[in-house]
Formats: sequence, C-alpha cells, structure tokens
Amino acid sequence: DTEMFTFDPGFTSTASCESAITYIDGDQGVLLHRGYPIDQLAEKSSFMEVSYLLLHGELPSKAELEKFEYTINRHTMVHEQLSTFYRGFRRDAHPMAIMCGVVGALSSFYHDSTDINDPKQRLIASHRLIAKMPTIAAMAYKYSVGQPFLYPRNDLSYAGNFLRMTFGVPAEEYVVDPVVEDAMDKIFILHADHEQNASTSTVRLAGSSGANPFACIAAGIACLWGPAHGGANEAALNMLREIGTVDRIPEYIARAKNKDDPFRLMGFGHRVYKNFDPRAKVLSKAATDVLEKLGINDPVLEVARELEQIALNDSYFIEKKLYPNVDFYSGVILSAIGFPTEMFTVLFALARTVGWVAQWNEMISDPGQKIGRPRQLYTGSAQRDYVSVDKR
Ligand code: SDX
Repeated sequence: DTEMFTFDPGFTSTASCESAITYIDGDQGVLLHRGYPIDQLAEKSSFMEVSYLLLHGELPSKAELEKFEYTINRHTMVHEQLSTFYRGFRRDAHPMAIMCGVVGALSSFYHDSTDINDPKQRLIASHRLIAKMPTIAAMAYKYSVGQPFLYPRNDLSYAGNFLRMTFGVPAEEYVVDPVVEDAMDKIFILHADHEQNASTSTVRLAGSSGANPFACIAAGIACLWGPAHGGANEAALNMLREIGTVDRIPEYIARAKNKDDPFRLMGFGHRVYKNFDPRAKVLSKAATDVLEKLGINDPVLEVARELEQIALNDSYFIEKKLYPNVDFYSGVILSAIGFPTEMFTVLFALARTVGWVAQWNEMISDPGQKIGRPRQLYTGSAQRDYVSVDKR
C-alpha cells in the first residue's frame, strides 16, 4: 500500500535520508522491519532470521538461513591478539568503554574487509561485525569479573553461544537454559534496528566519509552509550532500584514534572513515538513471562508496573504523550538473566550492530550517496574587523 509510505513534502524536506529497511509511525505506535511488524517478528522469528531480513530485504528460506547461520558462526572467533587489548583497561572500566576501543581497533586486524568499494568485502565486514560482537561483549564481561575468556562454539545458537561465553566457566559444561536463550534472542530482535535514531545516524554520517565499517560501528557504539539513548536501559533499572518501593513513586513523578529538576523518568518518552513503543509492549509481557518461568520475584517489576500505571494516568505525561519505551522493561529481564546493569547498553549495541550494518550497507551501496554535511542556523556575530589586544 504505497499510499501509507508517501511522505508529505514537509517531512521529505526534513528527512535525513531515504531507507527501505525500517518504518516507524510514532503516532500509531507502528514499527515494521522490511514490512514485517515487530511483534510478529519477536514472537515468531529468530534474531538470525531478522538479521538476514534487515541485511537482504527478505526473510530467508530454510537453506538461506542455514547458510547464513553457518557463515556467522564461523566468524565468531576474534584474533587471539585482540584479547591483549582488554588487559590495558582497568578491571572496573565501563564495558561500553571497552566496546568503543576494541571494535574501533578491529580494522587493524581485518584488512581484507575494509575496502568499502568492494561489495564482497562489505559483506564480509558485515558478517564479521554481527558475529564478533557477542564474543567481544562476553570478553568485556569476563574481564570485569576476573574470569577467563571462553572461545565461541559452532554448535550453539547465536544467543546460546553468547550466554555460554558470558556465564560459562572452563571448569564445567554450561547448559543453555531454553527460557533464557529465548528471552535473549527476543531482546536481540527488539533492539536490532530502529530507523534513523541517533546512533544509526552517527554510523551513516561516519560511513558517508568513506571510513571503514569497523570505525563506523565504533562511532555508533559511542553515541548509543548516552543516557538519552541506549544508556537509558541501564539508567532505567538503576532508577527503579533507587525508587525501591511503590510508595516512593509519587516523589519521582513529581521530580520528573518539575521543570527545575533535570531528572527524567528513564525508559519513558521518545523522539518519535507519541504513543506506546511497540517494543515496550512485547518486553512488558516478556518480563512477566521470564521472571515467572525462572521463578524470580524481583520487586523492581512491581515498581515498574505501578510507575507505568501512575504515569499513564497523569495529566503531565498524557499531555506530553510520554509512554514507556524499549528501555523501560528490558533491564528487568536482563537483570533476571544475570547481567549487571553496566552490561545492558553493551547488549543493546550487540543487537543494534545488525541494524547499523544494514543501514551502512544501504547507504554505501547507493552510487549517488555523498558525504553527509548537516547545515546550521548561524546565531553568532555579524562580520567585524580584528582589534589588536592593546585596544581591547
Ligand atoms: C532510545 O530514536 C530512537 O529510535 C531511539 C531508540 C532506538 O531504538 O534507537 O528508540 C532507543 O533511545 C529510546 C529513548 C531512551 N531514552 C530514555 O528513556 C531517557 C528518558 N527519556 C528522555 O530523556 C526523552 O524522552 C527522550 C530523550 C527520549 C526524548 O526527549 P525529547 O526529544 O525532549 O522528548 P520530547 O520532545 O517528546 O519531550 C516532550 C516534553 C519535553 O518537555 P517540554 O520541553 O515540552 O516542556 O516531555 C518532556 C520533555 O522535557 N519529557 C520528559 C521525559 N521525556 C520527555 N519529562 C520527564 N521524563 C521523561 N522521560
């Protein structure tokens, strides 16, 4: 239905780019990946299927999916010398600092996939980034807890491999819990891509200069780290824990409404969604399911539920059209799986890598693409002549 996708001239004149990958209708709370609704993908597909869809535009056949998974699996190992990078960081370094550094350095190990003019090299770089992010992320976690790195295995699913490298230890066989594996895969799907958000726009802008794909993804990781963007999932759970009990919610609601207080409800509001973030709806249900199946009773979930209800019935939030976003419930699930809050944004970056890579490929393969050059509204002094220091 092309009618639905025709932009009005006003929007087109402000659009930063054209893209066929993800469509968002902020007023209707619609999110489509290559035309497929996010709730259907989250419930029925796998992260590997969604990765193929984002990269190639169609859901894979069984044979295409098997070949894609085989290819990704065989890129999961990182150069052995990369592990020395970690030892240069303090043990208490924020894992996002490690991700920025290590991913940015990948181009110095994988010279055979940095020529952006070669479609074959672009595809290899894309596969390497998707495949190695779980390994690099798991190594960042292991380094922070002083445990040895585990090598990836080719007999596990994408999520299962990541869980084993993160929580497994050499002394015993790590058994992947299917409930946790399914929740992890769903979290990856829900964070895979989201149109021209700040970090994706950063990747596109960096890529438009011809920078190598590893450097572009490192730029995206740096942008995602901010608490207004991907860093909100870590901030949201820390906020829920700080609130602690339902009776303290009104105090935080009042702070969020106070113009003189910089505090904002983390996990609430969105640049585009002025209705429910469809991802938050899926995560809200998944939070209940996962905690029930794992037999975990985390008081944070009750605080989140009550906070959501109070905010959604408060005139300030209604008037400003503030709803829970993808970051409001994700931390409850990640915490139940066993991740510390510092790893939450790392997981967001791990999943978003496929979206960044798909968007980068879409831009780079457009023969008409030019270097990005945002313009400004100049608000400084009019032209004037220099005055020597003895006359100032
Ligand atoms: C992500 O772009 C994407 O697609 C991002 C993302 C993705 O998948 O890539 O969806 C992921 O980044 C989700 C957002 C995560 N961030 C947070 O949860 C942090 C808390 N939320 C905010 O800081 C805020 O809502 C933003 C940054 C997300 C949006 O900020 P804006 O652009 O200022 O929001 P707005 O213009 O719609 O705000 C309208 C009003 C403003 O007040 P006024 O200037 O009109 O007086 O609502 C206020 C805001 O100050 N407001 C909030 C609020 N969010 C907006 N007030 C209290 N608490 C909040 N959370």
